[in-house]
Amino acid sequence: MWVKYSPKTPEQFQGDLLVYLVRQESGKKAPGCLNHKVQAIVERAFRCKDFSGKEEEILLAYPETGPGETAMASRILVVGLGKEPLQRELFRRVGGTIAVTALKTKAKKILVAVPEDLDFSIQEMSECLSEGLLLGSYQFTKHKNFKKKEEEPAQLTGVNLAGGDGKAIRQGIERGSNAAAAVLTARDMANEPGNFWTANHFVEQGKQLAAQYKLGLKVLLQEELQALGMNGLLSVNQGSKEPPALLILEYRTGKKVPTVLLVGKGLTFDSGGISLKPSSNMHDMKYDMCGGAAVLAAVQAVAAEGLTGVDVVAIVPSTDNMPGLGALKPGDVISQYNGKTVEIISTDAEGRLILADALAYGIEQYQPAAVIDIATLTGAVIASLGHHRTGLLSNDDSLAAKLSAAGERSGELLWRLPLDKEYGKQLESQVADLKNVGDKGGGTITAAAFLQEFVGECPWAHLDIAGTAWDCTPRSYITKGASGVGVRTLLELLRAWK
Ligand code: BES
Ligand code: ZN
Ligand code: ZN
Repeated sequence: MWVKYSPKTPEQFQGDLLVYLVRQESGKKAPGCLNHKVQAIVERAFRCKDFSGKEEEILLAYPETGPGETAMASRILVVGLGKEPLQRELFRRVGGTIAVTALKTKAKKILVAVPEDLDFSIQEMSECLSEGLLLGSYQFTKHKNFKKKEEEPAQLTGVNLAGGDGKAIRQGIERGSNAAAAVLTARDMANEPGNFWTANHFVEQGKQLAAQYKLGLKVLLQEELQALGMNGLLSVNQGSKEPPALLILEYRTGKKVPTVLLVGKGLTFDSGGISLKPSSNMHDMKYDMCGGAAVLAAVQAVAAEGLTGVDVVAIVPSTDNMPGLGALKPGDVISQYNGKTVEIISTDAEGRLILADALAYGIEQYQPAAVIDIATLTGAVIASLGHHRTGLLSNDDSLAAKLSAAGERSGELLWRLPLDKEYGKQLESQVADLKNVGDKGGGTITAAAFLQEFVGECPWAHLDIAGTAWDCTPRSYITKGASGVGVRTLLELLRAWK
């Protein structure tokens, strides 16, 4: 599906669905709309108390064409913007609401009138509406068979945005579409079940992105991983039939600019290993690779946009975590890429083991100005932040502030958790340098404290998306399954990188 600018005025549009956005008024006043016919419809609905213009409230109407009148669109959709100060996120949600409503109708030709009488940038409004429209119309039906044509879910082919300031609307559409396209790639990867998405699929996806966007590509397979001593990744892979891989994608501007390193957890299925998880929700652990998907998609968006202020390197360590013959056992001791030894307490705390190798290796190889890792790392983050905010932990206040701001702009909210030395004490082991699990609560923090052992002095931030990568708080533009969280935050951070 696409979003495009249309130079038509809404009055000239005679398609299937014409959309107006209106502000809620205070007191006994109906929301105002510049089109007098639509205004009349809104007033009738308002008098019936069916529509007041609250945020994301919808009014669907079928206007009549009187004798001598030019025909209007066959359907009119009015969406409320509420009366609070306008924010980027509202336009994303409204975009999603339009997409969801349009999918329920059989509308094909759709035009959204971008309101121009509001105290809000037309470009940002168009950007966020585009994001919402594209993200909200996403469906993952690849593995479903539909017996009859009628059973197939409706799909949107495209939506036009209309308004006087064509330049601003076009620029907004381009920015929003680029971000959304990357999120959809991330969702496509993450929604694939474990048997359709293995470490090798990450490698294939990396090759495809590298070819399409002229990116540098490195793939480390079993033998190279062994030669390098990446035993975190190798030991998690020990119980699996599928070989591991570590994928590196490099976006280079060719200029003297700082490098930002992104590391994403690409655990394609997490059974827990010998520390087997309970079976009830184990199927959800196909989503344990959402961090890996997010960093690849972020690089895709950066490359498509051609950012000039920053080089970006994405690393995805990938394997599944299975309890097969030869599997890693509780009590085993392994040595990570940087030589630190780890006593395995739980084989289910595997994400930190594969991330530790990737972080230490990436920092050594690329000497980045900053490193950000993103991972579905701990169930504990759901206990602390629920399914609404992503956990943020960092050794650098300025990086943490930049990320929080990027999260705010993208509607992917973060919340910083502390990382005092005291938490790290929980990881002291009798037999090795570290153990992989703390024992006194604060599971999200001790996981981050573990990772911190592998980043040295490099400014680093860790995003724990276990609560937000799927099944997060419902929003019109977040569809069922993987949310694609993190892609837009990382893109927003890199767009503004100085
Ligand atoms: N992939 C899980 C974390 C997870 C849990 C993500 C629930 C999404 C929802 C991770 O590998 C894990 O199993 N973590 C353990 C750590 C524990 C053994 C210290 C956890 O959170 O239970
Ligand atoms: Zn696990
Ligand atoms: Zn995991």
